[in-house]
Amino acid sequence: MKLKNSTSKIKDLSSEIDKLRVPNHIAVIMDGNGRWGVNKGFTRSYGHNKGVSVLKNIIRLSKKIGIKVLTVYAFSTENWTRPPEEVNFLLNLFEKVLDQEINELNRELIRIKFIGDLSSFSEDLRKKFVNAENITHHNDEFTLNICTNYGGRQELVKVAKELARKSISGEIKPDQINEEMFESLLLTSDFQDPDLLIRTSGEKRISNFLLWQLAYSEIYITDVLWPEFDENEFLKAIIDYQSRNRRFGGIKSVSNQSLKSSFSFG
Ligand code: IPE
Ligand code: IPE
Ligand code: MG
Repeated sequence: MKLKNSTSKIKDLSSEIDKLRVPNHIAVIMDGNGRWGVNKGFTRSYGHNKGVSVLKNIIRLSKKIGIKVLTVYAFSTENWTRPPEEVNFLLNLFEKVLDQEINELNRELIRIKFIGDLSSFSEDLRKKFVNAENITHHNDEFTLNICTNYGGRQELVKVAKELARKSISGEIKPDQINEEMFESLLLTSDFQDPDLLIRTSGEKRISNFLLWQLAYSEIYITDVLWPEFDENEFLKAIIDYQSRNRRFGGIKSVSNQSLKSSFSFG
């Protein structure tokens, strides 16, 4: 666990967090790995490797402070357009990290889910995804959703197809389709929508991530590249979130997720 190095800084920021209003669900676009690797004089792959160790720290901190669901964007449907060497590097990295980390994640009571069209991956990798989900299935306090070969538009099209099929077979009538039914067919149907979306590397776009689910999420964009996004940067995002007025189209602020959390640092 790499919290040690920055524990004193975390202590400072942790005192600013309202422990009763920790977001229930945080989604993260982990961006900037490639640029970071190249800026350091190495390769884009070097940045991806560093990005994994940052993710490990953020997962543990999330659980510690009482977040229930962390959803991270690891590979988009559009990322296949990258040079084959980079795509292969990323696929091998997923495999390696799963092999190395799954037992420890399970020991730490972290449930893993993969969200996306997994049919495009090799059978070996798919087996590892399923195995990771099965091993960690019983951990119900904290879930890590890893979005791989995920695209928001593709997800919506998939729902539209299912609804069309159900209508044609007579299982439902088109007029019965409502938001609830639509949502129940999304890949994220087990989870509340994200309260907070974090994007690193300063890009001000959502790049086909969770198009339906982000409708009312608070958005936090930081220039920090993902490999440098440490625990303090994460806490800063949460503190910023806690200063927001969420109105959901109304005129009164709706209080942020109220969660009893018993975290302490140090
Ligand atoms: C995010 O970092 C990781 C993936 C998309 C897999 P990038 O690889 O997009 O890094 P930049 O944005 O090109 O620096
Ligand atoms: C979004 O980042 C996808 C992931 C973080 C996995 P990209 O780097 O692919 O997004 P764009 O190309 O900058 O929009
Ligand atoms: Mg990028």
